Amino acid sequence: MNTQILTTPSGETYPIKTGSGLLQSIGAELAAITKPCRVMIVSDSNVAPLYLLKVKKSLAEAGFFTQTHVVPAGEESKSAAVLGELLEAFAEAHLTRTDLAVALGGGVIGDLTGFAAGCYLRGIRFVQIPTTLLAAVDASVGGKTAVNLAHGKNLAGLFHQPIGVYCDVDTLQTLPEHEIADGAAEAIKHGILDDPALFDIYENGNPAEKYEEIIVRSVIYKSRIVMEDPNEKGVRKMLNLGHTPAHAIERLSNFAISHGHAVAIGLAIVARASVRRGILDSDESARIINTIRRSGLPVFCPYSAADMATVAALDKKAAASDITVILPEKIGQCRMEKMPLTELESLFSDGLEGQA
Ligand SMILES: NC(=O)c1ccc[n+]([C@@H]2O[C@H](COP(=O)([O-])OP(=O)(O)OC[C@H]3O[C@@H](n4cnc5c(N)ncnc54)[C@H](O)[C@@H]3O)[C@@H](O)[C@H]2O)c1
Ligand SMILES: [Zn+2]
Repeated sequence: MNTQILTTPSGETYPIKTGSGLLQSIGAELAAITKPCRVMIVSDSNVAPLYLLKVKKSLAEAGFFTQTHVVPAGEESKSAAVLGELLEAFAEAHLTRTDLAVALGGGVIGDLTGFAAGCYLRGIRFVQIPTTLLAAVDASVGGKTAVNLAHGKNLAGLFHQPIGVYCDVDTLQTLPEHEIADGAAEAIKHGILDDPALFDIYENGNPAEKYEEIIVRSVIYKSRIVMEDPNEKGVRKMLNLGHTPAHAIERLSNFAISHGHAVAIGLAIVARASVRRGILDSDESARIINTIRRSGLPVFCPYSAADMATVAALDKKAAASDITVILPEKIGQCRMEKMPLTELESLFSDGLEGQA
């Protein structure tokens, strides 16, 4: 079991615990940080049949009064309509300012529940129990919550920090390969940004035996960056490595290509583009691309540089004419580069050169 203590931008601290058996002991874990209260456990239709009873039982044994709300699995549940139903469920359950929402699921449940907890009664406390690798290594750190609007992903949201995050690695046993690969893309990204030892697990090791270490290393890195730059003015932009092409790829595929898979292709694109620009050695780029492949992720981009650049420019909020892209210099070190939006097509085209 590993415990990280995180400090929020407002100076409060909370634990992120990672290990085996945490679902069974969640009642005792929460009893250590809060008095008994009402708890609304929010989950989805895939996760609830697997883990909801276990969590409910553990919380009840520790003296919490539990209620549950299950939404359909999938990104569609990150909607204003489902958010509205969840807020009504909080009210129906008579949750007060001293009560607690628990997000049991992947990034969809974390984002939705965090948002609901952040605005219900102008903010009640919430806890994250991430059950996907992506939620554990990425979505549950940083306090961002959101739902999607018809006009785009994550357009409505707020910052709301949890009072605890509990990653039970046992839950990853039931996670489909495709979802494991989605999380791997973000963990590999963290490795390229800052952590050669994390990258090495994916390059040479057996990640399935190292989830605890993968999550802990990712949490340490992401939480450090988020603490340095809570409002995404500077260094937090590093987390966007591979994401400018990835967002364009997701959009062009009409979201048929999942975020993690698009990030994998995006990482391959920025690696190739960095070699072409003399920033990264070609053997380091080959290592990045082979490691992505080894993790069951794609490196081939089915779209043209021109189409991606058009979509990326549309995607860019505000009237900015510049964009900051992150480029790898070596495994464990990247740089931020500001360029005019008009240069994106040539960057993407460098990144597509020689793709097999
Ligand atoms: N807040 C942030 O900082 C942040 C960061 C990255 C991503 N996100 C968001 O996270 C979401 C993606 O997260 P995700 O990939 O976890 O998606 P998800 O929550 O949809 O989970 C993926 C699938 O796995 C299923 N599942 C979850 N846990 C399982 C388990 N243990 N066993 C079997 N099946 C399981 C889910 O039901 C779902 O079908 C996106 O909406 C994205 O915008 C947020
Ligand atoms: Zn991402």
